[in-house]
Amino acid sequence: MISVVYAQQRYHKALEELVKPGDTVIEIGPHIGKSTGIIAKKAGKVIAIDKSEQAEEAFKKCPKNVTFIRADARFFSTVDEVLKLTKKCDVFAIDMGGGRFPDTVFKVWAIWSGVFKPRDSLIRNCGVGEFLRRAKVDDPEIDKTFPKDVKDSGWLSQTGRKTPSQLKEGLDEMENWIVDI
Ligand SMILES: C[S@@+](CC[C@H](N)C(=O)[O-])C[C@H]1O[C@@H](n2cnc3c(N)ncnc32)[C@H](O)[C@@H]1O
Repeated sequence: MISVVYAQQRYHKALEELVKPGDTVIEIGPHIGKSTGIIAKKAGKVIAIDKSEQAEEAFKKCPKNVTFIRADARFFSTVDEVLKLTKKCDVFAIDMGGGRFPDTVFKVWAIWSGVFKPRDSLIRNCGVGEFLRRAKVDDPEIDKTFPKDVKDSGWLSQTGRKTPSQLKEGLDEMENWIVDI
């Protein structure tokens, strides 16, 4: 499932509901770790990525099942770094600032979810939410109901699946030596 929220409280509540015991979770934008604390209670493994100094400082102390990476989620090198830690992702959660830059948030979500293919995605962003409220699907080719039991519903499996060339190059190169840990 792909969930979109705006209120921070709702983001935290959605994390409580989505994360299942033992899940591997990738979180973009944990800031000082309030959301990560909620995830880490149930998850088996959490990889939290944030570009801020505040986050790096806060994550000097964190639960054992959490790995923090200080990096910019927009860069392929960051995807690459996380792929060295895991290829599995059950829940992908993204909160890069709930009110801002829906285009950036959507692009980061689309790339990361396309690589890790999570069972569930959670996006905290007002602009993406507003788009969904305003948009009407106006083409029968698009407006198809998905089967209820689809497992890969946390990412776009039918649209825009062409991997950007730089990413594809990197992934092809890594295919031979990535090991799940
Ligand atoms: C609203 S805060 C997150 C709050 C947190 N999820 C919570 O529930 O308490 C947004 C965070 O996204 C981080 N961020 C914004 N753009 C980013 C990017 N391109 N890469 C990594 N982190 C980013 C910011 O540094 C900030 O810590």
